[in-house]
Amino acid sequence: MGSEKTKQLNHLAIIMDGNGRWAQARNLPRSEGHRAGADNVLEIVKSCRKFNIKYLTLYAFSTENWKRPAAEVNALMLLLGEFIDKKLKFMQQENIRFNAIGRLSGLPESAGKKLLYAMEQTRNNSGNVLTLALNYGGRPEIADAARKIAMAVKNGTLDVESIDEAAFGRFLYDPELPDPDLVIRTSGELRLSNFLLWQMAYSELYVTDVLWPDFKEKELQSALQAFAGRDRRFGGVNKA
Ligand code: FPP
Repeated sequence: MGSEKTKQLNHLAIIMDGNGRWAQARNLPRSEGHRAGADNVLEIVKSCRKFNIKYLTLYAFSTENWKRPAAEVNALMLLLGEFIDKKLKFMQQENIRFNAIGRLSGLPESAGKKLLYAMEQTRNNSGNVLTLALNYGGRPEIADAARKIAMAVKNGTLDVESIDEAAFGRFLYDPELPDPDLVIRTSGELRLSNFLLWQMAYSELYVTDVLWPDFKEKELQSALQAFAGRDRRFGGVNKA
């Protein structure tokens, strides 16, 4: 495999962690940390455009995040709606396609409606793709795909013998989303937290202690530099 292909960064995925600690350090409520985190999203979208990264996927709300206090969940859902209201125009101007993965029908009605509207409005944009993982879990995604596959076999549209990795991938939430080349986790935790489990098989991982609201273009550049130094072999051996 040539070095050009191995160094290409087409899809960056980020686990945006540390909003709570960012707020705590300033004696602010956790919701203020999420607000600062949401404000940071557009900064990183802009940086990705600058660095020619076509796909950016952000872990915004997991299937486990419903366990948080109702006030925090509500604040996150309001922020999502606000984000769409305020940034949709920018997405249109900049030809960005707004996308989402997860059990979207389980989102509160108002946030869900805005989300679907933004996805519909930007459907034909051909530039960068911003995907938010919302009410998302990697295991639920795999289980949902398995259920859809079982249904397709049952109703005769899918042959059991044809089920391989590529066929399975076509039943994921967004079959067009390429596997991430690099996954960044902010705030220093060393875990995957149920994010993109299927897609991350050969992703490079980068963890920084910087909290998400403080993760700016300079920090992104450090991650990209680390990625550029990685030797991606995908289980094989690179030519000397
Ligand atoms: C983890 O930080 C972050 C989340 C659970 C939510 C991420 C959400 C945003 C960045 C804002 C909403 C996004 C958009 C696009 C509107 P944490 O709360 O677990 O932090 P902690 O580990 O320090 O407590």
